[in-house]
Order: sequence, then C-alpha cells, then structure tokens
Amino acid sequence: MKGFELGADFLMGTATASLQIEGGDTNNNWYRWCEEGKINDGSHCIRANDHYNRVEQDIALMQELNNDTYRLGLEWSRIEPSSGQWDQAGLDHYRRELTLLQEAGIRPLVTLHHFSHPLWLEDMGGWENPKVVEYFVRYTRKVVEYLGDLVQDWITINEPNVFALTSYLTGEWPPGKTSIPAYLRVLKNMVKAHILAYREIHSLRQTHNFPGQTLVGVANHIRVFDPEDNARARRVARWLDYMFHDIVITGMVEGKLSFPMGRNNHPLGKGFYMDFFGLNYYSRDIIAFKLSNPGMLFGELKTDPGLAKNDLGWDIYPKGLYRLCKKYHQKYQVPIFITENGICDADDDQRSQYIIDHLAQVAKLRQEGIPVQRYYHWTLMDNFEWVEGESARFGLIHCDFETQQRTIRDSGRLYAKICRDKFL
Ligand code: GAL
Repeated sequence: MKGFELGADFLMGTATASLQIEGGDTNNNWYRWCEEGKINDGSHCIRANDHYNRVEQDIALMQELNNDTYRLGLEWSRIEPSSGQWDQAGLDHYRRELTLLQEAGIRPLVTLHHFSHPLWLEDMGGWENPKVVEYFVRYTRKVVEYLGDLVQDWITINEPNVFALTSYLTGEWPPGKTSIPAYLRVLKNMVKAHILAYREIHSLRQTHNFPGQTLVGVANHIRVFDPEDNARARRVARWLDYMFHDIVITGMVEGKLSFPMGRNNHPLGKGFYMDFFGLNYYSRDIIAFKLSNPGMLFGELKTDPGLAKNDLGWDIYPKGLYRLCKKYHQKYQVPIFITENGICDADDDQRSQYIIDHLAQVAKLRQEGIPVQRYYHWTLMDNFEWVEGESARFGLIHCDFETQQRTIRDSGRLYAKICRDKFL
C-alpha cells in the first residue's frame, strides 16, 4: 500500500448519535423499543456509554485521537420532554458540552434528528403525522436560539431513507410499521421538515449575528447498487436507486416531491437547500432480479464473494466511496462531508486497513479537485448499535459496557496519527 496525502486543510473527526452513546433517557421511541424486547442481543439503550455523565472524559479521548471536528446528536426528548415544554437542564447540558468542545478546539457538527425522538411525538404517529413538520421546526428554533452561537455546522436529519425504510416499511425499528404509503408519507414530511429547518437555522443565526458562516445539510445514507449482468437486474437496480436514494435526495436538495412521493411539485418552493453534501458510506450491494420479491421491487441484494466482509457480513468496497463522491459532486457541485464511514469489527483486525483504503480514495478525490472537505469516522467508541445492540462494535475505542472502561484500539491509534499528520 502506497501512502496518501490529504492536505492540512482537511478536517477529520468522529461521529456519534445521542441515543447510541448517552444512556439514561426513558422518554424516547428507542427506549420503548428496548423495553419491548426488540433488541437482538437483549441489551438496552438505557445503558449505552453513559456518555451523558462522562462528557469531559470522552472529549479528552477525542483530543487524544487528534480530532479536529466531532459530529454529535442532540436528544430531542431531553430538550422537549413534552410537547411545547422545554427542559432547561437538557439545553444547559448541551451548552456545556459544546462549550467544552470549543475549549478543546474541536469544531462541532450537530445533528438534530438521528433516529430517536420523544414519546409524545411517537404517540401522535411519529414522522407519519404531518404535524411533525411544525414540531421539528419549533424544536430547531429553540435549539438554534439557545445554542446557535456555539454551532456553525448543522445536519437536520440523519439518513431519512434508512429511517423511513426500517421504521415504516420493513418494521424492524420503532414503530414497527410495514406500509409503503407510510414510507412515502414519512419521507415527504422529512423533506418538508428539512427545508423549513434549513431556512430557520440560516435566518436565526443571521438575525442573532452568531459568529461564522452557517452550513446546513443532511447525512445521506447512500449505497452502491451494482446490477448483475442482465437487463432485468439493471432495471431493478435503477428502480432501487430511484426509490431509496433519488426521490429522497432530490426532495431534500431541491424541494421537489417526485413520483411516487408527489407529482414533481415543490410544495415549499423551488430552491437549493444543501450547503454541503453529507455522505454516510458503508457498503455496496449486488442486485439480482427475483420475481418472488415484489416488496423489494423484484430485486434481491447480494454480496460479492470476492470481497472481504465486516462482522455483519457487509462487503468492504472502498471504491464505492470514490464513485459516490464523484457522482454527487457532479450532480450538485457543493463541498462533500463524509459524515459517516466505518466498520463493524470486534477484533479490530480489519479496521486499520479499512481506514487506510477509504482515506486513500478520499485523497485521490481531493487530488482530482473534488472538494471532499471532511471525514467523520463512525464511530468514536463501541456503542448501542440499534437492533444489533451492544454486540456490533464499530468503535475506534473499545468499550466495556459493564465497567464503562474505554480503551483506544490499535486502529484508533492509527487514526489519531492520520488525523494529526493528514498523510500516511
Ligand atoms: C448508520 C447510522 C449510525 C450507525 C451506523 C452503523 O446507518 O446512521 O447511527 O448505526 O449506520 O451501522
């Protein structure tokens, strides 16, 4: 493996989500899902990394990893425990965390919704209820008014496609629905919520004269769908790409509701609602045609026998990162932030190579003039990995959940070195 050069202006860091690390909150949709026994290994998000009580310690670890920037999520239910009621302690907690990050010289990128939200919202139908749009904007407004002087960079919504699919179409995540109309309703509400929040964040930071340029985007989960070599597979791959990626991204970026989410209309006006293109990249799928699979648009997702796998069986395919950055840069011409990229690897025997191979693709893109400006490794430390629970380990830092002992892995040491040098 030859080395690579990322350049001193390239920002590197780690990403987490509030529900996956904080622990201790009983007022959100995932708490209930855990209580109902829906987690594969029987673990529970109430424990996670107890990060809520260990913020200083974890920021010190980020410093040890030489992180320039850190992507964190806010827990909506801690800020607005019941509809329209604000919890000052919740807001103060995040103000303190952001201040500590600032003092540590780590630039925050804040996610407003990362799969979890308050039970009062869930009980109204969650993201299916059109009222969520107005509630999300109200929450955004509160957050920006209270914390907006400390944060320039925002992600409104994490992976709208994954959230809508697993929560409302396959039913694996709360609220466990399996309905195509629900999937489309959720996406439509998310598009509207994103656009209104985008405008709100910009206008509030400007009105209050908060320092620094405001940047707002979405963390898009994008996979590579490569068809098997036949016409039917190619058709299916195009449809999957359209339904899982295109309608969502076009909605978020341009405000356009495409078929079958809408009639190519722009309910909130035409525009461009993305200051950077956030890309969460993990893997690719080979698409085969399968007549008996109408629910998957007659497709079947396969892996490539020639590629190494992570602990969850996902193909490791670094080139996909290159292909997607090129594609979306050509399409939208905005800076790209890799808002997540990482590997489930409990033994830590593949993670270092994974990091090297993916960053080498980033270096290549930058050499070609594609403005990939940031990279957030998923994730800082092993955490509560949704329905996989505590068993799926994506961390640069190992966590013993019993004792909450954190230990930097070898791959974490390597990552720290690359973050410091910006070359290898
Ligand atoms: C993403 C998600 C993260 C994390 C990661 C690893 O889809 O945004 O929260 O779980 O996958 O599976």
